[in-house]
Amino acid sequence: MEKLFEQNMMKLFEILKKPGIQIALLIASMAIVSGAGWAFYQTQIPPEQPIQFPHKVHVNLQIPCLYCHPGAWRQASAGLPTVQKCWACHGQLKKYEGVAVNQWPAELQKLASYVQRNDPEPPTYKPIDWVPVYQVPDFVHFNHRPHIAAGLNCENCHGDMSKKTVETLEQTVNMGWCLNCHRGRTENNSQNNPDNDPELTAQLAEKRIKLLDCGTCHY
Ligand code: HEC
Ligand code: HEC
Ligand code: HEC
Ligand code: HEC
Ligand code: HEC
Repeated sequence: MEKLFEQNMMKLFEILKKPGIQIALLIASMAIVSGAGWAFYQTQIPPEQPIQFPHKVHVNLQIPCLYCHPGAWRQASAGLPTVQKCWACHGQLKKYEGVAVNQWPAELQKLASYVQRNDPEPPTYKPIDWVPVYQVPDFVHFNHRPHIAAGLNCENCHGDMSKKTVETLEQTVNMGWCLNCHRGRTENNSQNNPDNDPELTAQLAEKRIKLLDCGTCHY
């Protein structure tokens, strides 16, 4: 990974030496501006969330990822569920039927505090200010949709969520990580092109150029 980063930086310096290449400079200056914020996301320490939401419990209940993050296969951002979506389920869990809210587990009491039960119905909901964990800096464009369309699973990038209590970074999101996978997926080898099909060879080569091009992620 370190070597990869070094190679990228060398490439960057070469680009910077060429006249007329403004994009790398632009990126570099933006990187300095957003550097402080970015350092935060690279730490492995999970942030304090308004509610300690346990992925583990919900994923083991077989609730699909896309039920709560439906944006992942349609658009750039996966999105987070609304309180209304949580409450559609938690407002009617058998286990807590007839149990006073102040007898609920602490984290569920917090969830209930975002719900205003009105008479008459329906209830109103206050949004939860989740602290973003998994994020790329502003000068990088990431879109979920093409990745899901290419057959990747959530686990390929986010790890095994069924083991997580509070969301933590599975791997540091850095440029080397993106490029490493883009390289691997476009290599003309027995895995990507088992029959050594010449048409596929050409396609892979074309994709490789695109997926490693600075302008694909920085524009
Ligand atoms: C489809 C149903 C469903 C949805 C949607 C859902 N949950 Fe849950 N959740 C459960 C069930 C079932 C449990 C286990 C309850 C238990 O055993 O006490 C649970 C457990 C929890 C717990 C742990 C409670 C404890 O024992 O400490 C928290 C916190 C929680 N949910 C928060 C949320 C939040 C926040 C949302 C929305 C982002 C949400 N849930 C959405 C079904 C759901
Ligand atoms: C019941 C709803 C629910 C389900 C099911 C669920 N999530 Fe989440 N997810 C949330 C909530 C709420 C948050 C924000 C709180 C947090 O980060 O812990 C979140 C946060 C995340 C984040 C971090 C977002 C950030 O801010 O960086 C990732 C990544 C994620 N979920 C992936 C998954 C994957 C993959 C699955 C399926 C294996 C899944 N989730 C299933 C509700 C859910
Ligand atoms: C190719 C790697 C990759 C795959 C596959 C992937 N993600 Fe992500 N995910 C990311 C990256 C990178 C970010 C940060 C994006 C940003 O900051 O714009 C992210 C952010 C998120 C977030 C928080 C921010 C947001 O977009 O709302 C959630 C939630 C999430 N992913 C859920 C999922 C789910 C659910 C799946 C599977 C359906 C999935 N991801 C598949 C790489 C991936
Ligand atoms: C686990 C592998 C993997 C990781 C990690 C990954 N990608 Fe990708 N990426 C892919 C694949 C596969 C494609 C689709 C190639 C194709 O067109 O078939 C793709 C396509 C793209 C595209 C082109 C989308 C289009 O419009 O065609 C962009 C931009 C991109 N990725 C950005 C990123 C960024 C930024 C990161 C890191 C934050 C990242 N990717 C991490 C595998 C990955
Ligand atoms: C597949 C997506 C992708 C491609 C292609 C890509 N980058 Fe990046 N780049 C990223 C991501 C993600 C980050 C933010 C994380 C980091 O700093 O490593 C980043 C960060 C950077 C930074 C800031 C470095 C820092 O330390 O903060 C510079 C400069 C940069 N890229 C230049 C380039 C140049 C030049 C190219 C072409 C040789 C390129 N990038 C190609 C995804 C990409």
